[in-house]
Amino acid sequence: MFVGEAPGEQEDLTGTPFVGRAGQLLDKFLYAVDIERKNVYIANILKCRPPKNRDPLPAEEDACIDFLREQVRLVRPKVIVCLGRIAAMRLIKPDYKITQEHGTWVEKGDFAMTAVFHPAALLRDPRRKEDMLNDMKAIKKRLDESEREFEKSRQKAASMVASAKASSDYILEQMDKIKKAKD
Ligand code: URA
Repeated sequence: MFVGEAPGEQEDLTGTPFVGRAGQLLDKFLYAVDIERKNVYIANILKCRPPKNRDPLPAEEDACIDFLREQVRLVRPKVIVCLGRIAAMRLIKPDYKITQEHGTWVEKGDFAMTAVFHPAALLRDPRRKEDMLNDMKAIKKRLDESEREFEKSRQKAASMVASAKASSDYILEQMDKIKKAKD
């Protein structure tokens, strides 16, 4: 799951997050590290565009945060990536410093969180694109690891079900034999 700041103009018009210029750059990074956009859920802290794209006000974030909580509850992501400092300050810690702390990981219960530069910041300062690519590679690695963990648990559960079925088949067979011997 990726979480941005607030819809921009294009996002407000289409109702889809990250479809404007910043979104197109995000798509390039997803493509570069082999993450399909259809496999990630993208949300924003604010659900409406602030006037003239100014930073969200704390009261606006407060008004929207329960919607994001519900999105997280429904999606149950293994990894949450904050896109930019506004999301990182709201979701990781209020004094988050994106320039110094981007790409670091925080474990929070069922998921891990990290933050990367906001794609709009990369449009303004392309020198940060290399850092972004490295952070995105680490995110892909983490997603692959959690995919492998999930597959391992799935196989373990399948083998437990198979052995429970074998035990119950055996018991039924024995009971059948006992019944036949009695008759
Ligand atoms: N910037 C954001 O933070 N979110 C969007 O959806 C688009 C641009």
